[in-house]
Amino acid sequence: MQYKVFITRELPQKATEVIREVAEVDQWTDQLPPPREEIISHIRDKDGILSLLTDKIDSEVMDSAPKLKVISNYAVGYDNIDILAARARGIKVGNTPGVLTETTAEMTVALTFAAARRVAEGDRMMRAGDYHGWLPDLLLGSLLFRGTVGIVGAGRIGTAYARMMVEGHKMDLVYYDLRANDELERYVADYAAFLEKQGEAAMSCRRAAGLHELLGLADVVSIHAALTAETRHLIGAPELAAMKDDAILVNASRGPLVDEAALVEHCRRHPRFRAGLDVFEREPAMQPGLADLDNVVVVPHLGSATTWTREGMATLAAANAAAVLCGWPVWPTAADASDVAPFLGDAEPPHAAPSIVNAAELGLARWSG
Ligand code: DGY
Repeated sequence: MQYKVFITRELPQKATEVIREVAEVDQWTDQLPPPREEIISHIRDKDGILSLLTDKIDSEVMDSAPKLKVISNYAVGYDNIDILAARARGIKVGNTPGVLTETTAEMTVALTFAAARRVAEGDRMMRAGDYHGWLPDLLLGSLLFRGTVGIVGAGRIGTAYARMMVEGHKMDLVYYDLRANDELERYVADYAAFLEKQGEAAMSCRRAAGLHELLGLADVVSIHAALTAETRHLIGAPELAAMKDDAILVNASRGPLVDEAALVEHCRRHPRFRAGLDVFEREPAMQPGLADLDNVVVVPHLGSATTWTREGMATLAAANAAAVLCGWPVWPTAADASDVAPFLGDAEPPHAAPSIVNAAELGLARWSG
């Protein structure tokens, strides 16, 4: 075979087969991520790497692989990859948008209500045999219906979550994003008009002028921003202090967006405040003290963890790697509205790379049918 690809973990077999059709595969089969020196030693002679979000691919790693043409990430987020270094070396970087939008939004909803209604505390109480009968004040939580939900970052997942909360729980929506999301605003306005026709109260949607404005208004704040140098610790002590005392903070995007030490301190001082976390600043570790807090519910980065989604992610990641090696063009997706459905069914997928995040910067050709 002309090409060689390093795959840093076991993937569904179908996806591995797609790569095997065009390249010799070297696969890391341990449960734990390959240590950095293993990545470096495995990719020396490789043309591609299929990486996970736990694999840090920086300029040193790239420079150890002179033939490297593609880094295909098995994730929609790619903060583990030095994208500028990849661009400077002409290396294509792939990701997996579209298959985890609703899946991750649903986990965000699950965490929201687990925190609001103290589900994990109740579960612990039952298992410990500490439930001795119904009481008027047992584990009282917060009603979110008709409250205000705030989303920080109105991209694909933020928008899907916002719609679930607005449509399902009739919440007012406030969002903070550098760009206006006209489509979301229109959608909520149309839904509000529909409700009014049914004789129900409408809800509102507006873009906050600044993060602190949103924090002061929302009963639930859910973070959906990409992790960059600018967004690291986007939520720190001052931001937590700007939130309502009984607000809920949810993070299913990237751990370092929240200053976890500040969060522990805030939750200690504000027992009515709650947090639902899927991601952690120094994953898989948790900040000391976090696990002792009853007002925090934690799960191990499960946002995209459904069978359909994880298989779809593998399919897209494999398709990205194979397409780059075959010299195929890039699927013509708008930056924030990718429709990758043609890659996921049983039909022969298009001869294109579903999603290359630096396609524009590298001047790559787009698929045109
Ligand atoms: C991603 O794809 O970025 C998610 O964090 C994986 O669950």
